[in-house]
Amino acid sequence: MRFYQEPAWIEAWYIVAFVLFVYGVSGVTNVSTARRGNLVAAAGVLIAFLVTLGLPEVNNYVWIVVGLAVGTAVGVPAARLVKMTQMPQMVALFNGVGGGAVSLIAWVEFRKAGGLPVAEGVFELLAAIIGAISFWGSGIAFAKLQEILPSGPLKLPGQAVANAFFLLGALALYILLLAGSNSQLVFVFMLVAASVAGCLLVLPIGGADMPVVISGLNAFTGLSAAGTGIALGNTALIVAGALVGASGTVLTNVMAQAMNRSVPAIVAGGFGGGAAEASEGEEQRPVNRTDAQDAATTLAQASKVMIVPGYGLAVAQAQRSLADLAGALEERNIEVSYAIHPVAGRMPGHMNVLLAEVDVPYEQLKEMEAANTEFPDTDVSVVIGANDVTNPAARDEQDSPIYGMPILDVDHSKRVIVIKRSMSPGFAGIDNEMFYNDNTQMLFGDAKQSVEDIHRELGGS
Ligand code: TAP
Repeated sequence: MRFYQEPAWIEAWYIVAFVLFVYGVSGVTNVSTARRGNLVAAAGVLIAFLVTLGLPEVNNYVWIVVGLAVGTAVGVPAARLVKMTQMPQMVALFNGVGGGAVSLIAWVEFRKAGGLPVAEGVFELLAAIIGAISFWGSGIAFAKLQEILPSGPLKLPGQAVANAFFLLGALALYILLLAGSNSQLVFVFMLVAASVAGCLLVLPIGGADMPVVISGLNAFTGLSAAGTGIALGNTALIVAGALVGASGTVLTNVMAQAMNRSVPAIVAGGFGGGAAEASEGEEQRPVNRTDAQDAATTLAQASKVMIVPGYGLAVAQAQRSLADLAGALEERNIEVSYAIHPVAGRMPGHMNVLLAEVDVPYEQLKEMEAANTEFPDTDVSVVIGANDVTNPAARDEQDSPIYGMPILDVDHSKRVIVIKRSMSPGFAGIDNEMFYNDNTQMLFGDAKQSVEDIHRELGGS
């Protein structure tokens, strides 16, 4: 046995890897340290990977090299080319692949040993089920977000019965395998049942709830990897899987809370219909309209401006133009800040990432609670492509579907300018009463174009 195959050596390097994982994950909790945190965690993965390559049982490197080449050829261009608005489906895809890998490892172990002893099978087979649910569920989430499948909730007749049938079916086959069956057919049927359950669970969920679902599936993948780690006696897999499982679970809950929804209600599906829903046919109530010239005049007269970005900013890719406009306001000694709602956009930290991309200083980003204390002193709030996260119905109307969702109290500002293309609702599909307020002015148009027009009116290029 070579020195790098000694168990003590392997465990020592795995511990180094875990420390880097944990340190890296703690880094991504803050925007300013996120990039470094990511690199540190990646270094941990690299160490765990290299140590694993040295394990005595790893002796066929050809397939590993082939896998690496294919993964690199697909993963690197995909990660480089993906747009920020497509990040949730990208995460879904990468996460799903992890779940699929766990199922395949379980299958290999099952074949190799001709069945699995109970002590190993309990974890390994459960990991295979969870991995298959995660793989197929993530695939459906990807297809919905990429609009390969309709993004709205897709409820099939008898959905609950079908879900129960396939989940309980997978569980029954799991018990059969634990009871000593070494039939590969039973194993495959168990995977198929779990795969169908994964698809059925995600199909009824609307596109805009997908980030929460993806985060939940991510937690599933982590748990399945940890289960495989226990079965294989591989501490790196146990720790990495537990970290992904725990952080995915926390993130799922944080997102659900920020939307004032329960995770079971999200999984039950049927909420929201994608951003394209419009209140067609409804009588149009009058609103105060404005144009770029007036908006520029209003802004020029302010001493404190709060920018409220939302999903529309991301769709329009207006972040650069926005930073330029903010710069022009600051040159006039106007104080500019950004109010960031935790679920503005379609993924956690969506707005932070967009604004960081154009070097908006972190100190100018105000979290919801801090921003809410500042709105009453704000001369003008400029809402750019945000809707639900500013809707006072969440605060004031008990029968509203978003009642209880924490919001940005933009309507408490002295004046509000809302930039969006029409009176269409946001993800929740409901009207926003703030748009009709006397102190609100609507500037209809694409976010990027409108922001550039205002900047031009202010004398910018
Ligand atoms: P939304 O309420 O979805 O509103 C976005 C608005 O942007 C729409 O009303 C749309 O109006 C406008 N818009 C779209 N394209 C535009 C463009 N090119 N130029 C200008 N405006 C444009 O977004 P929000 O306020 O950011 O709230 C996020 C919603 O997503 C919440 O309901 C939240 O619960 C949900 N959600 C968020 C997450 C996370 S983690 N962020 C996860 C799941 C769900 P027009 O069509 O009239 O332009």
